[in-house]
Amino acid sequence: MSRIALVTGGTRGIGAEISRALTRAGRTVIASYAHNSRAADDFARAESIHTIQFDAADYAECEAAVARIAEDFGPIEILVNNAGITRDRVMAKMTRDMWDAVIDTNLGSCFNLCRLTFESMRTRKFGRIVNIGSINGQAGQYGQVNYAAAKSGIHGFTKALAQEGAKFNITVNAIAPGYVDTDMVRAVPPDVLEKIVAKIPVGRLGRAEDIARGVVFLTADEAEFVTGSTLSINGGQHMY
Ligand code: CAA
Repeated sequence: MSRIALVTGGTRGIGAEISRALTRAGRTVIASYAHNSRAADDFARAESIHTIQFDAADYAECEAAVARIAEDFGPIEILVNNAGITRDRVMAKMTRDMWDAVIDTNLGSCFNLCRLTFESMRTRKFGRIVNIGSINGQAGQYGQVNYAAAKSGIHGFTKALAQEGAKFNITVNAIAPGYVDTDMVRAVPPDVLEKIVAKIPVGRLGRAEDIARGVVFLTADEAEFVTGSTLSINGGQHMY
């Protein structure tokens, strides 16, 4: 039986590539999206991958979505917490709303979906959870106190939950992507981005495929001895 995988933010950017790669690896993938239904429809049509709309920052919406997936496909065995947003601004100009939005979407979503899937993973004695962190959660980034705090939180969350999952064959790992060529990174002012790319030893932005390959590795049935780890995929920009 093909294992059921939920990829949040799975219809665009890095998430879309993760959805494709897990499908190629034989998983039944459900890719979630929050708002952009046109992109999700295009993705579902082009890839024949199931999509579901809910806001990963909202616990009640997550609860309803997890129940629907269980009913339509079966219990979630592979969870990729990828949904993330940026609201970059220097501290002097950052609003409380910008802080809350990033913490709730990037970190709160990990709590919501792990809380709602962990018990069934425990019962079934199988689970693969991958949380998408960031180089900026490891190293910090000017103009990103909200994003760096949320992503850094993901790294701590991962190590704590890995300890709870270990005896149930549930692995919990994080991937810390560097700067990957997606809409999110393209929104960085060009002069700033140019300076960032100049600091990447490999000499280019990452590709979504570079990250998806890591997810396939960490979610393999055979990867049971890899847990609580953070896989940095950043072209050597930050060696941590
Ligand atoms: N180091 C030092 N100073 C910096 C700086 C840096 N990295 N970046 C900006 N500044 C300075 C500016 O030079 C400016 O200085 P002055 O006031 O002395 O001229 C000051 O900060 C304020 O700049 P702005 O007026 O432009 O302030 P702003 O709030 O409108 O924008 C910013 C600042 C939001 C930080 C903007 O420069 C920016 O978007 N930077 C990119 C942030 C970034 O890398 N985000 C990553 C997004 S992708 C992602 O997050 C994915 C992932 O996981 C990697």
